[in-house]
This record gives sequence, C-alpha cells and structure tokens, in this order.
Amino acid sequence: MSTAVTTSEAALGGPGPGCAAPRHVAVIMDGNGRWAAQRGLPRREGHRRGVEALRRTVRAAGALGIGILTIFSFSSENWSRPPSEISDLMGLLRRFIRNDLVDLHKSNVKVRVIGERTTLSPDIAGLLREAEDLTRANTGLVLVVAFNYGSRQEIARAAQRLAAEVAAGRLAPEAITAELISSRLDAPDIPDPDLIIRTSGEQRLSNFLLWQAAYSELVFVPLYWPEFDQAALEGAIAEYRRRERRFGGLAAAGAGP
Ligand code: IPE
Ligand code: IPE
Ligand code: MG
Repeated sequence: MSTAVTTSEAALGGPGPGCAAPRHVAVIMDGNGRWAAQRGLPRREGHRRGVEALRRTVRAAGALGIGILTIFSFSSENWSRPPSEISDLMGLLRRFIRNDLVDLHKSNVKVRVIGERTTLSPDIAGLLREAEDLTRANTGLVLVVAFNYGSRQEIARAAQRLAAEVAAGRLAPEAITAELISSRLDAPDIPDPDLIIRTSGEQRLSNFLLWQAAYSELVFVPLYWPEFDQAALEGAIAEYRRRERRFGGLAAAGAGP
C-alpha cells in the first residue's frame, strides 16, 4: 500500500465498512449564479466567490490525500451564455492561472487540462499549456481542469483519431474495443473518477465525463458552489464510503459459490 493511500485512509477516518477512500474525485462546480442572485449580487460576483471555493477545495483535497481532483470549469455548451458572462469567466480563468499557478506549483500540484484546445483564444491556450508545462514533474495532487470540455465532443475526437488510423491502414475496425476508445480520450492515463460531486442541487451530468462515469458514484450536494468547503467535501466522501460498488458483480457477502 502506498503512503498516499495510507494518508488518505487516515485523514478520511480509516478503512471503514464501505468502500476505500476515493482516489479520483471529480466536481461539477455549479450554482455560482444562483448564489449571487439569492444575495442580490451580479452573477460575476458568484463566479468570483466560486474561485475562492475552488482554492479551498484544492487545499482540502491535498490535505485529505486525494490523488486526483477533476474540476468542471467551463463546458462546451457554456459558450451559449451572454458575451459579458463569458468574458467574466475567461477573465477569472486568466487571473486564476496568473495568480495561483506559482502556489499550486509550490504545493507540488500537477495540472492537467482536458477539453477542446484548438478553438480557444491563443492567450488562454497559452496559459493552460504554461500551467501543464510548469507542473509536469510534480508528484502531489493531480488537478485535472476540464475547460471548454464536453464529453460527447471528447468521444467524437477519440472516434476521429481511431477513424484516421483505420483510414491509414494501421488499425482494423474490429480491433476497436472499449479500452482502445478510452486510450484515445483527452487524458487516457487518468483513471476513471470514483466519485463525482455536483453542487447546487441539480442532479445531472451536463455532458461531463459520460464515458468515464460508467461506474462512478454520484453525490449531489445541496450547496451552491461558492459555499463549498472542506467539511462539504468530507461529507460527500463519507457518503461515497457508505456506498457499495459492485461493477456489475455481486456484493462481497454474496460473491461466494
Ligand atoms: C457554475 O455556476 C459555473 C459555470 C457553469 C461556469 P453557474 O454559472 O452555472 O451558476 P447557476 O447554475 O446559474 O446558478
Ligand atoms: C455545468 O453546469 C458546467 C460547469 C459546471 C462548468 P451548467 O450550469 O452549465 O449546467 P446546466 O446548464 O445547468 O445543465
Ligand atoms: Mg449552472
């Protein structure tokens, strides 16, 4: 057992009766706008406070010994929002990388990015690349940023890559398996999320990690994202650990002959 797993088991209350501590936690950070509306504030203030919740969550994930944290920060469909909101969100991403990258690097966080990059503005694409390049050799928490991300689009990109290999005569159509499709997704080396948390009370995936979520446990937290903190993360993990993951098999007690 690695040190990281021991740390996380200890931080999250020991082995316990249910499943082990999650190795990969993914978060749909939702409810910034409603948080602001409830207080009579502009939506951008909700997004600004959402960045603070993100900082808290990254620290908490590190403290709890979580190996991988994936955050849904901008979806392929979020381009349909008003231009002023899109500009606020892009501004926050720029500022987040400019202000926080050095601290993330010092904390040994390794940043990865998933989503469509080729259509992003060059400055945003450059900042995302800089974050990955600077932290590439880090060995602590892996922070996967899903930006301009849509799961159907990611699967379509994987299909295009495989189709190109078939067309070039390097791959037989019947050699295409689920594993091969997984290997052509945006971050094939990252294991599937054990736990997906969505804040704000909405209970849907909104085009997030559809392929990878096949056997993820889903926990819906009735807090708006700006309210999320370490206690909420611990609560979601405690709920996860009470679940029984069967992956289509039988429960441990009924697994015998
Ligand atoms: C999440 O909060 C942030 C993004 C989707 C970028 P929302 O902006 O979706 O907030 P609500 O859901 O309207 O409250
Ligand atoms: C999902 O939230 C996307 C992100 C959190 C980045 P949305 O607010 O865009 O999802 P819907 O529209 O409510 O499904
Ligand atoms: Mg929303």
